[in-house]
Amino acid sequence: MSNRNILITGGAGFIGSHVVRLFVNKYKDDRIINLDKLTYAGNLKNLTDIENEPNYKFVKGDIQDKAFLADVFEKEQITDVIHLAAESHVDRSISGPMEFIITNIVGTANLLEVARSKWTDDNHVFYHISTDEVYGSLGEEGFFTEETSYDPRSPYSASKASSDHLVRAYFHTYKLPVKLSNCSNNYGSHQFPEKLIPLMINNIKNNKPLPIYGTGENVRDWLWVEDHARAIDVIFHKGEIGETYNIGGWNEWTNIDLVNKLCEIMDEKLGRASGTSAQLITYVKDRAGHDMRYAIDATKIKNELGWVPSLEFEEGLDKTVDWYLDNEEWINNVTSGDYQKYYSEHYS
Ligand code: NAD
Ligand code: TYD
Repeated sequence: MSNRNILITGGAGFIGSHVVRLFVNKYKDDRIINLDKLTYAGNLKNLTDIENEPNYKFVKGDIQDKAFLADVFEKEQITDVIHLAAESHVDRSISGPMEFIITNIVGTANLLEVARSKWTDDNHVFYHISTDEVYGSLGEEGFFTEETSYDPRSPYSASKASSDHLVRAYFHTYKLPVKLSNCSNNYGSHQFPEKLIPLMINNIKNNKPLPIYGTGENVRDWLWVEDHARAIDVIFHKGEIGETYNIGGWNEWTNIDLVNKLCEIMDEKLGRASGTSAQLITYVKDRAGHDMRYAIDATKIKNELGWVPSLEFEEGLDKTVDWYLDNEEWINNVTSGDYQKYYSEHYS
């Protein structure tokens, strides 16, 4: 596959910006078109290092607008889609589910419809990026495989599950050349500080309480975001049409152990006495419908496509903490709302 015009949706977000960077730098014969609405979670400052590359283009827009998507497909002669645009935060989906339903379900349907109408042969890939949260909640034993039944329990995971079903329906019904992947929790640079790891780093730095939902015994399987981007690259180029791949870190942590680990790392980096930051830990009311445990069996992608995570968690956490400590301006910017004002002035 070369000389492609690849539409990456949500490329200004956390994972999307890592995917865009990888593709722009690695595939110079392809054009990468980043389509993003620039919600609170999308930030073009995530991409300043590649924004002037000749094979990169940014288009501001909303996947809720089908006519606009059709126009982009036509103008840019889109050959492939890597679809990451979504509302992504579970807590926000609990307080306001409609935006999740419209962006994640209707937005995905719009993209599928436009791809179906514009693509007249098989020489295309529509790659949908999803989450392991569609599988629901595990007990102490077992893993999610590609065969696990869907059992989403939050508005976020239900909206992602719906979009996954639509993507598969377009494969079976219209033979749209689709691929899917379901990944575990990502961490790394440029993640909006509402998610567990960047929120805790920011709060530790600012001596603010560290809110642990419920007992803190909930388990998540953490993966370095650049390893997710590598997996997306491998699946896009080598994965089978119509197939789903689970992506995970083989790296399960209870929330409380993880937050204690972050406290230790930060005590050392900030020159605080051991145990100082952990005193900020505060148990708070549990999240409604809080899934107990997620854990991915990533055997299929390992055996069929040769992908395995590259980075040890301790090293990844260390790099992540360093990135947030070195990029105070980025955090201040995304939390202050200044950057949203800037975008509405420049891209309205
Ligand atoms: P994010 O919230 O950081 O970024 C989402 C991006 O989508 C933002 O740039 C935002 O501006 C854009 N966007 C939102 N609504 C849009 C719309 N209507 N039109 C166009 N653009 C819009 O999310 P993320 O963590 O980078 O997740 C990216 C994708 O990966 C999502 O589909 C998510 O479900 C999936 N995923 C995330 C994780 C994780 O741990 N973060 C794990 C597995 C899968
Ligand atoms: P989060 O980063 O929101 O990811 P997800 O809900 O998609 O897995 O949360 C990760 C875990 O951390 C989840 O079990 C909820 C918990 N959590 C807290 O205990 N406190 C917090 O302030 C946040 C944001 C999350």
